[in-house]
Amino acid sequence: MEVTRERVLEALREVADPGLGLDLVALDMLESLDVAGRSVRLKLDLVTPAYPHRGRLEEDVRGALTRAFGDVEVQVEAGSRLPTPVKEPLPGVKALIAVGSGKGGVGKSTVAANLAAALALEGAAVGMLDADIYGPSQSKMFGVEGRRLMADDEKRILPLRNHDVKVISIANLVEDGQALTWRGPILHGTLTQLLNQTTWGDLDYLIIDLPPGTGDVQLSLSQLVSVTGLVMVTTPQDMALVDVRRAYTMARKTHLPVLGVIENMSYYPLPDGTRDHIFGEGGAQRWAEEEQLPLLGQVPITRALRESGDGGTPLVVLDPGNPSAVELRLAARRIARQVGSQALSSLPMA
Ligand SMILES: Nc1ncnc2c1ncn2[C@@H]1O[C@H](COP(=O)(O)OP(=O)(O)O)[C@@H](O)[C@H]1O
Ligand SMILES: [Mg+2]
Repeated sequence: MEVTRERVLEALREVADPGLGLDLVALDMLESLDVAGRSVRLKLDLVTPAYPHRGRLEEDVRGALTRAFGDVEVQVEAGSRLPTPVKEPLPGVKALIAVGSGKGGVGKSTVAANLAAALALEGAAVGMLDADIYGPSQSKMFGVEGRRLMADDEKRILPLRNHDVKVISIANLVEDGQALTWRGPILHGTLTQLLNQTTWGDLDYLIIDLPPGTGDVQLSLSQLVSVTGLVMVTTPQDMALVDVRRAYTMARKTHLPVLGVIENMSYYPLPDGTRDHIFGEGGAQRWAEEEQLPLLGQVPITRALRESGDGGTPLVVLDPGNPSAVELRLAARRIARQVGSQALSSLPMA
């Protein structure tokens, strides 16, 4: 059979990413494809060169093309999307991604935890800083609740580690409930300490889970470090969108580059395959279009996502095939892609 671009694409639709279970084309993992005679050259868009299923993926690509065309020469290259900052936001940290929202309860921490774990699954070195002093939840979500933070020989804080992510939460620093009473200056000092006096080691991404709103933490953070980008989380209903708009205005005022929007609790997947748009349909998408912000994902409501958060294992790790997990993993890939492609300068900024 003649080797054509269309037929190659068709054959590649049979190849699933071993970590995600979706095909290469659906995942937009094909960075380039050249077909010349009976030779096929393709470049895969991997988030990191350390992607754990890389060998298997290359083999599967070769297998699928050989099955489709018989005698064919295949060259597979892998491109990486690791961030290459002009200046590191923190020593050893290549990108600092803040996850924020206007409103509490929209699933910001859930999204942040799964983005961190998803990037780790792609082979990236990832840290999580839980800066939500009013309602810290990352130690619970990563299953490190109740563990005390330790210091190294130089009196620097050592993060806890689980699911391949280094985690620091204010909850691991204070007694239960105490975090709620913190005020501006102490807060600023603590955040400075967590950012600057932690031995993060080399990280590709440090994810920061922000408290809801547009308050002190957001301000402190923008004064303390140069944030690579902010991911905004909202739910579809108008009330949440009003608040995320406010948070977006604040981000622009403080010169925080905004990577895009994740709509959480977008719909409830029904057993017959249809979707129940419990909180309304398309709200975040319309807003994103208005502001020319990328819509990074639309995460469905699932019981498993709620349970995984309470259980201490992010859903992308626990059940990668769950529809909420798939969408979160795709969102993580889109974020990595944006950060890595240096497209930030072209994003709308104040
Ligand atoms: N897509 C979803 N499907 C089901 N439950 C969700 C989803 N997103 C978040 N939740 C649940 O909603 C609650 C609030 O989420 P959380 O991440 O703590 O919100 P926030 O950090 O914005 O306050 C948690 O119990 C969480 O497990
Ligand atoms: Mg939270």
